[in-house]
Amino acid sequence: MKAYRAAILYFPETPSASSAAVLESDGLLVLCANAQGRQVVQAVGAYRDLQPRFAHVPVTHWAGRIIAPGFVDVHSHYPQTNVIGSPAAGLLPWLENYTFPEEKRFLSLEYAAQAARFFIAELLRHGVTTALTFATSHPASVEAMFQAAQAQHMRLITGLCLMDRHAPADLLNQPAQGGKPDATAQSLVDSEALLRRWHGVDRLGYAITPRFAPTSSEAQLRGAGELAARYPDVWIQSHVAENLAEIAWARALFPASRSYLSTYADFGLLRARAVFAHCIHLDDEDRALMLQTGAAAAVCPTSNLFLGSGFFDYAKADAVGMTYGLASDVGGGTSFSPFHTMLAAYFVGREGQTKAGLSLSPQHLWWQHTAGAAQALGLDGVVGNLLPGCEADFVVLNPQATPLLARKTALANSLDELLFDMIVLGDDRLVEKTIISQDILASSAYE
Ligand code: GUN
Ligand code: ZN
Repeated sequence: MKAYRAAILYFPETPSASSAAVLESDGLLVLCANAQGRQVVQAVGAYRDLQPRFAHVPVTHWAGRIIAPGFVDVHSHYPQTNVIGSPAAGLLPWLENYTFPEEKRFLSLEYAAQAARFFIAELLRHGVTTALTFATSHPASVEAMFQAAQAQHMRLITGLCLMDRHAPADLLNQPAQGGKPDATAQSLVDSEALLRRWHGVDRLGYAITPRFAPTSSEAQLRGAGELAARYPDVWIQSHVAENLAEIAWARALFPASRSYLSTYADFGLLRARAVFAHCIHLDDEDRALMLQTGAAAAVCPTSNLFLGSGFFDYAKADAVGMTYGLASDVGGGTSFSPFHTMLAAYFVGREGQTKAGLSLSPQHLWWQHTAGAAQALGLDGVVGNLLPGCEADFVVLNPQATPLLARKTALANSLDELLFDMIVLGDDRLVEKTIISQDILASSAYE
């Protein structure tokens, strides 16, 4: 057992029906090992209340620091780190001119491996401890990411990007060498092999990953849905309703479906643990379908602002009770920083405010990137919070990290003011440490 003393931020309700946070100004976080040897939270609360019960446990004191749940990023593309900041008129030319050329390089295991290590290091430097991320259509890219995440004991979910049409030939899923020349069937065979090799190993998870409906044939989407039915606890990730040209394209390719979103439903791809990036241009029936199937939206505000895709409608999503979480969407998104993403989400919420009379509170923004994002992944009570039983992934924030942060946070009179200071002024400098839950049975590093 070990314990940490500092201010502690967490969400007292689980599953998080409300996004109300608590800041224990002089708190104690006590960690222990669960039955599987995983380091989890045993107790969290006021130091003065918990200290007598845990007097025998060694305590590390981080005076002036804030312990908070590690951030959860529910949508990104690890192969797009080099694509950040590439200008384009919109999504489709951005894919064609920048993203597809870069993704072609992930055929090489060495290229993928260094990119995966860099991406994981950036996540951790920015305080992100759980991520759902795309790989490319090359099995080596999936292998490389799982290996890099495993080396850091991270909770990470990825999968083989499924594309069997409407993309450059060397980015389409490839047939087996010397085997049957059927790229569609091979993409499903490769997905299943990677799933069986990695899903549930340590803290890794597999996501069935059709890129988006326009780059998959009916056969590939049907196969992906069948795979999902055979493996009900794996994740599904894709994109939907991001951009008007994309929507028109998807509608033309799948005219029998009621809407772009329902194309995925028609192939069995909407369910709990299915995460659809963007969900900007949905209608009320689509939102009801998201709720009914338990699928979740990944809200990607820096990407949507950068590519001019539009604004996620928080008011309508909340009105139906749709599940969602925040995401960087690197490299359409412009930053790895959860603070930048939360601030962009706030701007987007302000845009909606004029229509619906609401604005996103700092506690709700923070929840969307921690406990709420975990809920969107079906991992509430596992990550994204610091309640007893949660895996011990957390960040140590230094509110004095920059002169302006120090000056401004010293003036905060409430939790909302303090969180807003960090959301508006924060970046990687605010994150002093990122601590990943140890596998105590396997790890000699644990004291
Ligand atoms: N739609 C299909 N592929 C992508 C992608 O790589 N990024 C974004 N933002 N949208 C997509
Ligand atoms: Zn994306």
